[in-house]
Amino acid sequence: MSSATVAVIAIAAGWSVTVGLVGALVAWLLRRRSVRWLAAVLGVVAVTGVAAGVVGTARAMFLSDHDLTVVITVCAVSGLVSVGFALWLAGRLGGTTRRLRDAAIRFGDGGEFVGPDDAPRELADISRELTRSSVRLREAAERERRLEESRRQLVAWVSHDLRTPLAGIRAMAEALEDGIAVDPQRYRAQMRTEIDRMVTMVDDLFELSRIHAGTLQLSMETVLLGDVVSDVIAGADPIARAKQVHLGGHVDPRSLVRGDAGALARVVSNLVMNAIRHTPADGAVVVEATAAEREITLSVTDACGGIAEDDLARVFDVAWRSGSARTPGADVGAGLGLAIVKGLVEAHHGTVSVHNRDAGCRFVVTLPV
Ligand SMILES: Nc1ncnc2c1ncn2[C@@H]1O[C@H](COP(=O)(O)OP(=O)(O)OP(=O)(O)O)[C@@H](O)[C@H]1O
Ligand SMILES: [Mg+2]
Repeated sequence: MSSATVAVIAIAAGWSVTVGLVGALVAWLLRRRSVRWLAAVLGVVAVTGVAAGVVGTARAMFLSDHDLTVVITVCAVSGLVSVGFALWLAGRLGGTTRRLRDAAIRFGDGGEFVGPDDAPRELADISRELTRSSVRLREAAERERRLEESRRQLVAWVSHDLRTPLAGIRAMAEALEDGIAVDPQRYRAQMRTEIDRMVTMVDDLFELSRIHAGTLQLSMETVLLGDVVSDVIAGADPIARAKQVHLGGHVDPRSLVRGDAGALARVVSNLVMNAIRHTPADGAVVVEATAAEREITLSVTDACGGIAEDDLARVFDVAWRSGSARTPGADVGAGLGLAIVKGLVEAHHGTVSVHNRDAGCRFVVTLPV
């Protein structure tokens, strides 16, 4: 390499490095300003660095005045045009980041996140993540709203359901105290029934709150579903007889599931008690279980006359009861039974559903083997 070439390289590098260092200093001073400024400094430094190298070298090369003027003019014109483009691009980048920032602020203020769709990759990644968070947040808020709504309803209905029997018990207790009860024995029996009902309700509420709080402890073991069903049928038979409802069933002897025997008994019992309650005299309630390779299907079929289509999706909601079940004096529950069934079945990784069939409805529980 000739000494002239070395000199050219040294002069060009010297000028460019000087401009680069000044640019780095300016960029450092502007580091907290908009990304638009940084991008602009980047463009200006790149263009000026090249122009300074060319002009500096040309001057040192003792070119004729005319040639030097041409070189300087070329550098000035193309430098200005290039800086113009650099500033334009910097402005666009700044605009995109600003739109992303504004969208994030709106999101932070509780709105939805709608990011710019023409952002460079890193910004697009941020935008996508924020969009995902926005969707998750909206779903969580919706879930929370529904939960809050059902909690509110539950408190309202439960306090109503407790107030009525409590008022009755107080009236009966006062009558007994004052010795004005016409039939004291009947009053005592009635009080006992009401108290039992309230105890059941409080137990159900406790169970539900444990299910919802996720503190339900299941002791998993291998359970023969046939035994669970026979126990429930034996327990419910007197009630079914009193209502003249035929209660029976058939369980595949291979129906073995891993689960909590007590919880499964509660599931079957809640379904059977509901079925008996909603089946008129002479109707039949049938419990069946079939075993497949991967799951056991348990069904409780009754002759309730069908559930209104609109209500089918709501029967598992906490504290929901059909309009007719709210008639005062009717044999009503608190609307907790099916919510408990659903919670317990899901804790066993199973599913529960209901559909109308002939003149009744059928609740179907599937449990993994
Ligand atoms: N087998 C059924 N046939 C017809 N309707 C039913 C049946 N099971 C439940 N329902 C309807 O679904 C509602 C909710 O049932 P759920 O078992 O949750 O509450 P409940 O029986 O009213 O009260 P609880 O079970 O807390 O004593 C009932 O009020 C009833 O309207
Ligand atoms: Mg019930």
